[in-house]
Amino acid sequence: MTIQAPKGVPEYVPPQGDEFRYVRDQLATPAILAGYKYIELPYFEDVALYTKGIGESTDVVSKEMYTFTDRGDRQLALRPEGTAGVIRSVIENNLTQNGLPIKIWYAGAFFRAERPQKGRYRQLQQVGIEAIGAESPALDAEVIALGYEAFRRIGLTKFEIQLTSLGDSTTRPHYREVLTSFLSKLDLDSETQERVKLNPLRVLDDKRPEIQKQLVDAPLMINYLSDESKQYHESVKHYLLEAGIPFVDAPRLVRGLDYYTRTTFEFVHSGLGAQSGIGGGGRYDQLMGSLGGKDVSGIGFGLGVDRAYLACEAEGIDIRQALPKSMVLLSIGETHDPYAFKLAQELRANGFIVDYQAHAKNLKSGLKNADRLHAAIAILVGDDEVAANSVSIRMMDSGEQIMVLATNLILELSNRLTLGSNMWKEA
Ligand code: HAM
Repeated sequence: MTIQAPKGVPEYVPPQGDEFRYVRDQLATPAILAGYKYIELPYFEDVALYTKGIGESTDVVSKEMYTFTDRGDRQLALRPEGTAGVIRSVIENNLTQNGLPIKIWYAGAFFRAERPQKGRYRQLQQVGIEAIGAESPALDAEVIALGYEAFRRIGLTKFEIQLTSLGDSTTRPHYREVLTSFLSKLDLDSETQERVKLNPLRVLDDKRPEIQKQLVDAPLMINYLSDESKQYHESVKHYLLEAGIPFVDAPRLVRGLDYYTRTTFEFVHSGLGAQSGIGGGGRYDQLMGSLGGKDVSGIGFGLGVDRAYLACEAEGIDIRQALPKSMVLLSIGETHDPYAFKLAQELRANGFIVDYQAHAKNLKSGLKNADRLHAAIAILVGDDEVAANSVSIRMMDSGEQIMVLATNLILELSNRLTLGSNMWKEA
């Protein structure tokens, strides 16, 4: 039996691999442009980081973590998300010592043992940001705006920002009481009753119709905000309105992680069925303190790269168009290999993406090869070309072909064929 990839783990093989990488890079670009600094984090951490940081009432921690004991008897878990690890690292490396706020971004794979289906994977990729140590509605708006711009950048339009406030530490306990008392009067199974005790907010997220039916009149956090939290929330919304970033109020929004306070949001796409959350995030007032660090608040998001990629497909966005065009350099006949080899290196040194395919048997088989590689341009080196110190440039789509002096090739490609854009080069 041949060995297969593990269940629920997506792969992006060529040509999808480059499309996926493009989506991931584009999602990170707004944060980079906003001065966020890159952090590379471990792929596994102490289990306690997640039980403490994310919360034991969450599915992510209680049902979906990949935990293991290492050879030194340490209890470890593959990272299910990035925020807890970022905060751990900020504390451990004392990154707050040179002043606040700290703005960082990360990208990579996360692991959740969910029931796999389209858009719900056991290995998922995120681009995330965290802005730690500053409390200002403008910063909350910045984070939301960076997520919005990220999705717009890859061409997505059919998504909305769902926004709410989950209140602060002074109002949350009161709301919790009100909600618990409401829930205690409902007809709930014992498992759900247990959840009420651990975190009643989580029950609002129960998707079962028999539960949802009972929750129609449930009290909502947004109606129990302190004056301060309410004002803060209004101010965040004002910034977004001023910036022309559309959002909808989502007073029933519940996130899958327990650390959120105040500003909380999700990016929801309409073309993905049940797995519609393409990104989400919010503020966390207590996380840093609870993990032993300074008692400062932070805010961030995680954007789902796999789902963003699926959303592009759902919206019919042709990512291939946005990728740098590829060139194939073909030597026709073995004798011209050294000439072609040198040319390929020169082109690459000038930033062009060039796949050098050595000694095609003849022109026809060379062009067939170029087709197979989805090349936009073939650069041909045959007897005629070498004799004239030249190369031929062939547009694969139209078949148009011109011969240019080898010394002019780079200029030709830069000026004539790119029409002023750098589409032929890797960014
Ligand atoms: P999250 O909502 O759990 O938040 O995940 C963020 C995004 O990752 C989701 O909106 C979704 O697009 C994607 N995602 C999550 N699980 C899966 C899955 N099984 N398959 C495919 N995609 C998935 C967090 O992880 C927080 N750390 C975000 C954050 C940062 N909050 C504050 N700072």
